[in-house]
Amino acid sequence: MNAAATAPLIEAAGLSISFNGSAVLSSVDFDVVAGEVHALVGENGAGKSSLMKMLGGLYTPDSGTIRVRGVPTRLASVNDAIDAGIAVIHQELNLVDTLSAVDNIFLGKEPRTRWGFPDRRAMRTAARNVLGQLGFRESPDTLVGALRVGEKQLVEIAKSLLAEARVLIMDEPTSALSDAETHALLTLTRQLRERGMGIVLISHRLGEVFAVADRVTVLRDGRRISTLPVAQVESSTALVSMMIGKDFAPPERGADEAPRARSTSVEVRNLSLWGPARAMVRDVSFSVREGEVFGLSGLLGAGKTEVLEAIYGISAYRLEGAIAIAGQRRSFRSPNEAAESGLAFVTEDRKKDGLVLDQSLEANLVLPSLPRVPGFPFYRRRRLCNWAAEQARASRVKHRSLAQSANSLSGGNQQKLIIGKWLMTKPRILLLDEPTRGVDVAAKAEIYRQILDAARSGVTVLIASSEIDELTLLCDRILVLCEGRAKQIVPRSDFSGDLLIDLASP
Ligand SMILES: Nc1ncnc2c1ncn2[C@@H]1O[C@H](COP(=O)(O)OP(=O)(O)O)[C@@H](O)[C@H]1O
Ligand SMILES: [Mg+2]
Repeated sequence: MNAAATAPLIEAAGLSISFNGSAVLSSVDFDVVAGEVHALVGENGAGKSSLMKMLGGLYTPDSGTIRVRGVPTRLASVNDAIDAGIAVIHQELNLVDTLSAVDNIFLGKEPRTRWGFPDRRAMRTAARNVLGQLGFRESPDTLVGALRVGEKQLVEIAKSLLAEARVLIMDEPTSALSDAETHALLTLTRQLRERGMGIVLISHRLGEVFAVADRVTVLRDGRRISTLPVAQVESSTALVSMMIGKDFAPPERGADEAPRARSTSVEVRNLSLWGPARAMVRDVSFSVREGEVFGLSGLLGAGKTEVLEAIYGISAYRLEGAIAIAGQRRSFRSPNEAAESGLAFVTEDRKKDGLVLDQSLEANLVLPSLPRVPGFPFYRRRRLCNWAAEQARASRVKHRSLAQSANSLSGGNQQKLIIGKWLMTKPRILLLDEPTRGVDVAAKAEIYRQILDAARSGVTVLIASSEIDELTLLCDRILVLCEGRAKQIVPRSDFSGDLLIDLASP
């Protein structure tokens, strides 16, 4: 056998890169062999995407070497990487929304007829075949902009396969997928491995790493901490400890912490929300006590977000039924009114309404609190600044200074900042919609700690999440919604993943 046949598909040694003088990766080694899934894990900002961008020809390393099947190779552009058989599906997908799936797949490398025109027939046939094998159910002529995230990923994978990639790098492919889509993608990953591809999987969901990966590499602060077979990793706690560099202890809600004697804080009676064609939520009732953590569970579209929006008074639907806050019937007409009554809402879409990204951390933190500062608008700036500093510390936002802009923080820290700014308003009722989506395990634990601390101090917490593990860790009770209807309210003593999944399905 020659060297090329036995050498790893990619072997990177001593890769370093810095931006604006700060080192992002320091002398990192990384390799991928044929027929393996190699997971890459680390906290937000550890350098995972940067490492993959070097293998994908997007970033040029300051030093180090990359061998492709044994041959030292310079990957100076995306085309160099494609020629070397390396395809990267980036965290931010790279498709053109206004082109069809077929056109995206062949963009820039259309097969030609013998007259030199793009061979549309050949393109469609090839695209249809590969997409079909991948379980893509839409027409290949559908505009990519009209596809769901999971389908867009299949288009990217089809593109890689047709470009004859031998290495497929997927950067957090499942963070925006539903459970069913995630399951399908992991099955596909295994099939591609069987075909002899080398696959790199970046994921914060360690369950996935244990389910499909053969080896795992841990990055921390731009350094490689370890590469080892997944079978040798003791537990996900052990893996997280490597990621954060100290023992990891996830916070926990005690079985007996649910407040029994306290008064009712939020009461929802026979709530229905009517859209133009049908009810999005139908006849839902529940009540939550002060200091209780109450979960809303259910599949995508079950009505979790809609219930929270109705309580906060920003529902787009016609409302029937009643909502009472602290025993008084309320229907807020604006977020301001809701905030004045002690409510805070951390919405699902944090890109859109979470932060003012080009403003400082301080500005972001104090913004929602301003109207409640004593003496506003003649408040003392110094005092506010101290509060912001305190909150940033309490929320464990990793930052250099309060003057740095919000977009200079990693995703997990942005999310901590959002929750922090709402906690600063000292809400009595905290509504959270998917509070930890895309956040790494350690940052998640910090967010959980804050949520539980708030509840212990008497704050009522309502949390909607598609992650069952998250709900079972945090909540005292969980309401399971299915197609807009309340299926059951499950108390902590009866929590089990299987039961909750069962209840959520129609
Ligand atoms: N093009 C860039 N310019 C400046 N800083 C960058 C650039 N790309 C990445 N970084 C920085 O490098 C660090 C690692 O980022 P990244 O590789 O995206 O981490 P991860 O994918 O592990 O979350 C972060 O601090 C990020 O801000
Ligand atoms: Mg990344």
